[in-house]
Amino acid sequence: MNKERKLIIAGNWKMNKTVAESLNLVRGLKIELALVKEVDIVICPPFTALAAVSQAVMDCNLRLGAQNMSEHNYGAYTGEIAAGMLKEFSVRYVILGHSERRQLYKETTETVAKKTRAALAAALKPIVCVGETLQEREAGQTERVLDTQVRGSLAGLTPAQIEETIVAYEPIWAIGTGKNATTTQAQEAHAFIRRLLASLYDDNVSRRVRIQYGGSVKPSNARELMSQPDVDGALVGGASLEDRSFSDIIKNSI
Ligand code: PGA
Repeated sequence: MNKERKLIIAGNWKMNKTVAESLNLVRGLKIELALVKEVDIVICPPFTALAAVSQAVMDCNLRLGAQNMSEHNYGAYTGEIAAGMLKEFSVRYVILGHSERRQLYKETTETVAKKTRAALAAALKPIVCVGETLQEREAGQTERVLDTQVRGSLAGLTPAQIEETIVAYEPIWAIGTGKNATTTQAQEAHAFIRRLLASLYDDNVSRRVRIQYGGSVKPSNARELMSQPDVDGALVGGASLEDRSFSDIIKNSI
């Protein structure tokens, strides 16, 4: 597939996989994906598996991401993990503002913005998630919600920083439901986000930002979704937990 921007496909393992299970999955992925050069491949294991997985992917084309981080660099924040701690394990990406963090753990857009700035300051590439609920979509509020979340979550970034940032459009009704957005719905939302970035920065900057789609991506729909001009990759949950399905998503997207 001939794309303007290099595809980036990330697997968000969420709260799944022990260290042993993680290493097993990585072993399979390394075999399946060894020859892939066309896509930036990122895996995001739970924190407890980062050390072992970072060793296992040292010599291959799999890059490491974390699923969250603190907006603070150190201090009295029980249970939190700082950017500098992730960097010890060669983590290069970090998912921020996932809807599960926003909904279940009440993360605000302001917090997401602080985390995004902290990640970039530590030279980690943030994958910043935005997306509407079903109720908001049905009420015709999708663009309003995306406008608020994108402006808020990316507040204060310089043009150079925004180009290092990946935006993940994840309609909440499509996450873990098996019901993906249609190609038209995805393309419309991605184009809206890109126009918004052009208005906040400029066309050149906006054209360089990669926007992933997330929500029930699977081998059978990956190609169609990735064929859309403004869809530059995928953030994959359930289907990233198994080597065949994650590899097939990547191979079908090339
Ligand atoms: P899903 O999750 O692929 O299982 O729908 C996507 C996500 O939460 O990033």
